[in-house]
Amino acid sequence: MRKKLLINYNNNSFKKTILIDGDKSISIRALLLGSQAHGKTLIENILLSEDIINSINCLKKLGIKISLNKKNCYIFGRGLNGFKYRKDITLDAGNSGTFARLILGLLVKSPYYIKLVGDKSLSQRDFERVILPLQNVGANFKVNDKKTLPLQIIGSEFVNPILYIENKGSAQCKSTVMLAALHSPGQTIIKAKKSRDHTENFFKYLGIPITVKKDKYNDEIKVRGQKMFKSFRYKVPSDPSSSAFFIVLTLLSKNCELKIKNVNINESRIGYIKILNKMGAKIKITNVKIKCGEKQADIFVKSQSTLKGIKCPPSLNSNLIDEFLIIFLAAAKAEGVSTFSKLGELNKKESPRLKLGSKLLNQLGIKTKLTNNSLKIFGNPQIELKKKINIKNYFKDHRIFMTSVIAAYTFGGKWEIDDFNSYRSSFPSFLNIIKKLGYKFKIY
Ligand code: S3P
Repeated sequence: MRKKLLINYNNNSFKKTILIDGDKSISIRALLLGSQAHGKTLIENILLSEDIINSINCLKKLGIKISLNKKNCYIFGRGLNGFKYRKDITLDAGNSGTFARLILGLLVKSPYYIKLVGDKSLSQRDFERVILPLQNVGANFKVNDKKTLPLQIIGSEFVNPILYIENKGSAQCKSTVMLAALHSPGQTIIKAKKSRDHTENFFKYLGIPITVKKDKYNDEIKVRGQKMFKSFRYKVPSDPSSSAFFIVLTLLSKNCELKIKNVNINESRIGYIKILNKMGAKIKITNVKIKCGEKQADIFVKSQSTLKGIKCPPSLNSNLIDEFLIIFLAAAKAEGVSTFSKLGELNKKESPRLKLGSKLLNQLGIKTKLTNNSLKIFGNPQIELKKKINIKNYFKDHRIFMTSVIAAYTFGGKWEIDDFNSYRSSFPSFLNIIKKLGYKFKIY
């Protein structure tokens, strides 16, 4: 049964400290790298979302023993290329684009075809972006003309060290090639448009030979492969992308204060905090620490009676790629016009997010101007809805679901949101935290 979430606007104010679930990008990288390490790895505070459970099940199919004890995950790594390959293995990545793309980088030596499948949303997403560089590395693929899942990959004995130019600002593409590079006898060089750098940080943390040269727009990454590494202990920080929903909820509500503890504040993930502060928010970052090669901190935010519209610099796009929907919502309640450009990649996510983000705002009565790669939002700080809003046919995109819930509590109206389970792919505690902050909803 496809259950719905019902929300009747409730006026609420809170002063709370919360903890958010572990970071999705880092949890997936920790699992993948744990599978290639020698011995027993412990990942603490792993995210227990559907994407991660699917990732664990796929690694188990490749012969990696993994056990979970609450948020502690033990992985019994079998070293580089230690997967137990068999004929007829099918990996189901579910909704996870990150796992589906990154795992291909670790399959470049598979002696048999491995089949990769995903859910309806993932099966519409582009895989050519990782197929092309992996073909250069030496892998072969059986795939349809659209270059979407399902596909099959077979590796080769020799993994070429390649020069790869990544120009989409995609951390998934960059990381897939970095994982393949672990199996190559030479030096792989990646010239990548800026994107989140968790894989680079993780390689450094594990002592994998890597150098990274950064300039304003691009990074040059050099990886030397075939260096075995030991099992490790890693504590996953809280997810900044999940935190963004509660930061915007606080900003757009009245008389609220929120502290979120131990959030990953990697430069490449907090573009949205910079944008919100430029819009007039006063989000504070305190208690900064470096743990396991990643920066984390506490984030403090208060309600803000008015936000101003923003012209979002495209150079920040890949630093807030997962937060655009919730930023669009903040822009909808801001004074003046906001513009977002060069955002074609946003339509290639779990759903065509640029298009559906605009549609959601239109349902709220907010005027927008949409093109293939840009969105103009005509904000309305006075807006208070009385009407019924029904959110459906959104490819169960977890971030559309959560953005809709935040909209329901900040714009008013009577909401019916389909596919209430959607949030579980990235943020299983989402509705529990909503309740903890004093909001009400019904599921039916
Ligand atoms: C991710 C990279 C981003 C992001 C996704 C997670 C990662 O995708 O949208 O949610 O963990 O590397 P792209 O690399 O396709 O931009």
